Amino acid sequence: MARPPEEPKSRSEPRGNAVSQSIDALLADEVKVPPPPGMKDQANVRDLEIFDRFSEEHFPACFEEYARLLDWDRPWRTVLDTSKAPFWKWFVGGELNAAYNCVDRHLERHGDKAALIFVSEDESQPAQAVSYRDLYRRVNEFACLLRDFAGIRRGDRITFHLPMTPELPVSMLAAARIGAVHCQVFGGFSGAACGTRIADSGSRVLVTMDGYYRNGHWISHLDNVGAAVETAESLGQPVEKVLIWQRTPGKPPGSYRLKEGRDFYLDEVLPRYHGKAVPPERMRSEDPLFLMYTSGTTGRPKGCQHSTGGYLAYVTTTAKYILDIKPQDVYWCTADIGWITGHSYVVYGPLALGTTSVLYEGVPSYPDAERPWRISESLGVTIFHTSPTAIRQLRKTNPEGPARHKCRYRVLVSVGEPIEPEVWRWYHGKVGKGRAAVVDTWWQTETGGFLCSTLPAIHPMKPGSTGPALPGIYPVILDEEGQPVERGSGRAGNICIRNPWPGIFQTIWGDPQRFVDQYYKRYNRDPKSTDWRDWPYFTGDGALEDTDGYYRILGRIDDVIKVAGHRLGAKELESACLQVPGVAEAAAVPLADEVKGRVPDIYVALRPGVTPSSEMADRVKTTIIERIGKIAAPQHVYIVEDMPKTRSGKIMRRVLAAISNGVEPGDVSTLVNPEVVDAIRMIAGRRVGEGPGLSGETIRREVRDLD
Ligand code: WTA
Repeated sequence: MARPPEEPKSRSEPRGNAVSQSIDALLADEVKVPPPPGMKDQANVRDLEIFDRFSEEHFPACFEEYARLLDWDRPWRTVLDTSKAPFWKWFVGGELNAAYNCVDRHLERHGDKAALIFVSEDESQPAQAVSYRDLYRRVNEFACLLRDFAGIRRGDRITFHLPMTPELPVSMLAAARIGAVHCQVFGGFSGAACGTRIADSGSRVLVTMDGYYRNGHWISHLDNVGAAVETAESLGQPVEKVLIWQRTPGKPPGSYRLKEGRDFYLDEVLPRYHGKAVPPERMRSEDPLFLMYTSGTTGRPKGCQHSTGGYLAYVTTTAKYILDIKPQDVYWCTADIGWITGHSYVVYGPLALGTTSVLYEGVPSYPDAERPWRISESLGVTIFHTSPTAIRQLRKTNPEGPARHKCRYRVLVSVGEPIEPEVWRWYHGKVGKGRAAVVDTWWQTETGGFLCSTLPAIHPMKPGSTGPALPGIYPVILDEEGQPVERGSGRAGNICIRNPWPGIFQTIWGDPQRFVDQYYKRYNRDPKSTDWRDWPYFTGDGALEDTDGYYRILGRIDDVIKVAGHRLGAKELESACLQVPGVAEAAAVPLADEVKGRVPDIYVALRPGVTPSSEMADRVKTTIIERIGKIAAPQHVYIVEDMPKTRSGKIMRRVLAAISNGVEPGDVSTLVNPEVVDAIRMIAGRRVGEGPGLSGETIRREVRDLD
């Protein structure tokens, strides 16, 4: 079952008429690009036999292969415990420490090797290497400070609101060393957004930084502390200590005034712990390693709780098998560590493998779109990992840029959004010069690591298609009734994973019921069952499987909007709008964007007696930025007289999204007020066919799926 891309049965089975069938097969094959020659002899995975090892009959024991890549203080007794389904427990009885696995165990052989290379956005600053030995020292000193100065104990949660500098992985690993659960909030989120996460996780300590460079500007990050602490406290969570790293020691603070007894510059406190070491805490495999907040269908972000043993085993092995990381590689993933990709594939996976991970502070296109190629050339980057948004931007700004540099990539990785075939071809042809394997990896915050991708040395690549499922992942596409869509039929449905795997998140922090309801309830066959086969994991993505066993991800079927690869919830945007006095109703919908994939468009209706004005629209926009962050800034804010609604009073977001994107709104007969459609279209100033007109079919489908 999990052995794509062998000839699937469905291709030889009669389907439709013979002509369309052969055209399908032709298309599927025609666009495939073979893996680079010579790669197979050196890759970490060299043949398809792996899919036999990970076939269903060997599940779950097959995943011991993953756990064996780690050093355990005590071996596990049970590979998978399903007794509290769907709260899966992996490698039960095993004990280990994540920081030990990412740092200590490399000291003997790789102590002097760079664990991290930090590249400042300011190009005049030289790249800084942090060796595994340096990392060991810095992690230990900070771990000691967290324990003795901040009073952090095993199991405590601690919130980080840090930008992309080495202090972020140092802080994460220090927390992991003493058994604390870290909750890194994306640095670009606002203070208020950070505060809600502090409160939800119950953190008593916030670790932040004075500022950082972004797009050539100094961002005074410290200004977020006030709102973060106030928001957390208003939600009932006092913040006892704020620990502040300094991006450039000695730089005078901005307008923020430190609160005595609560706020501390780490440069002043850390010297007390100079040279001190803390023994790594022996953690149970199923103890939480971190929480990663992400957006879903409600306004409240959910803290996805990831385990220590299962998660680390999964990201380490998938980094080895899919990214093909070897210790001698210089690996660069541009994702921000504040998102799951950064946790799994900037920090934990690569460092557990003892490779060199590049950490870049700023935006890839600063000061120009050749920066990534200059960095890659000068550092000798062999594996480059980024998002379709970044690739689109670099391609648009400077399509010939890569040709001017001697980059020698072996593997190129795309993550976070669907990549258009023409963008894929540029990445493969221009960036990889046709010599690199491109892997389009599909997965989610919840899944810890990759679910679908081609294996770089083995599988032919198909632009626009993520590829087959990873070894040991058994997807199924289910229709609305829960019936599997015929394999290889190319029919769209809800992609689910039939089985648990070690990287799957354990629960939503503090809300186990929401965890079950959101991810398992829909297709669960028996709520009392302890058989994993009764609990397909619901991903929330629409997808189809081609005749060759490759999956094409069509996008979210819920209210999640991926803006430049960042995951935002429509409901979060809407609740921010409702904070503005005078706003009665709000709807956030995705608008197709040439570079960012999607951007939010906002529609608001005002309370009776409130006059629409451009100031009002501006207030909505600034409130969104204050409550969430700049990444959520809407493209347009439209003030409308009335929202299109169903008889039960529900706003038909599908109709609004259709208007924004200039596509047919479809059936509007269920509206109580169909007349508003034309009025809103006038306000939005867009007629059908006048949309951004990009990825036309995809946006049409997405619009249809709303509501
Ligand atoms: C989307 C990011 C198409 C998908 C790792 C998923 C993708 C959501 C791909 C998760 C891909 C991720 N092709 N779509 N290769 N990778 N997605 O939690 O809709 O930020 O559900 O995790 O991104 O976003 P998240």
